[in-house]
Amino acid sequence: MDKKTKLDALNKKWFVECKCELKKTAKQPVPGDGNAEAEIVFIGEAPGRSEDEQGIPFVGSAGKFLAEMLEAINLKREDIYITNIVKYRPPNNRDPLPEEKSACREWLLEELKIISPKLIVFLGRHAMNNFFPAEQISKAHGKLLIKQFAGMPTKYFYALYHPAAALYDGSMRGTLMADFKKIPKILKEIEKREKN
Ligand code: URA
Repeated sequence: MDKKTKLDALNKKWFVECKCELKKTAKQPVPGDGNAEAEIVFIGEAPGRSEDEQGIPFVGSAGKFLAEMLEAINLKREDIYITNIVKYRPPNNRDPLPEEKSACREWLLEELKIISPKLIVFLGRHAMNNFFPAEQISKAHGKLLIKQFAGMPTKYFYALYHPAAALYDGSMRGTLMADFKKIPKILKEIEKREKN
């Protein structure tokens, strides 16, 4: 079975089995989207209004900014895979609660195991703290994080500020774009490490 078929089966299973309380208020689940064979997986926080309406992650203003940053490193959305730690929209876009994150956690981990990317990029502190609870985004952004988690094929991680937070903040926007532009160099660094 190829990765795309495996992901489709995984999402179908979790649409039924996910116990997240947000199911009650969200319009629909928002599973991951993009290239199942991608080298890079981006992980955001939770769907917003547009995502809840369309059932696709990062289709609103944060998604447009993300597409702009991808273009700056010669990538398109079709080249990458993008998902969220929580698959249902929290009411009024509030932060997801710990129990909502843990209800969706296995779904995310199974997605990551199927895609098995070279690099996982966190969009914002919620995504990063889901894997690295002790890290602070203000210190960890723009740096390669390396950790072997049990049962996880990927051990290379990279944290960025969330595009929605940076969208209207000039200095954060500049920092995010500068960190984003380092992604090709980070991929080369990973290749070098894997050869040694
Ligand atoms: N912000 C997120 O974290 N995820 C989305 O899908 C959209 C906006």
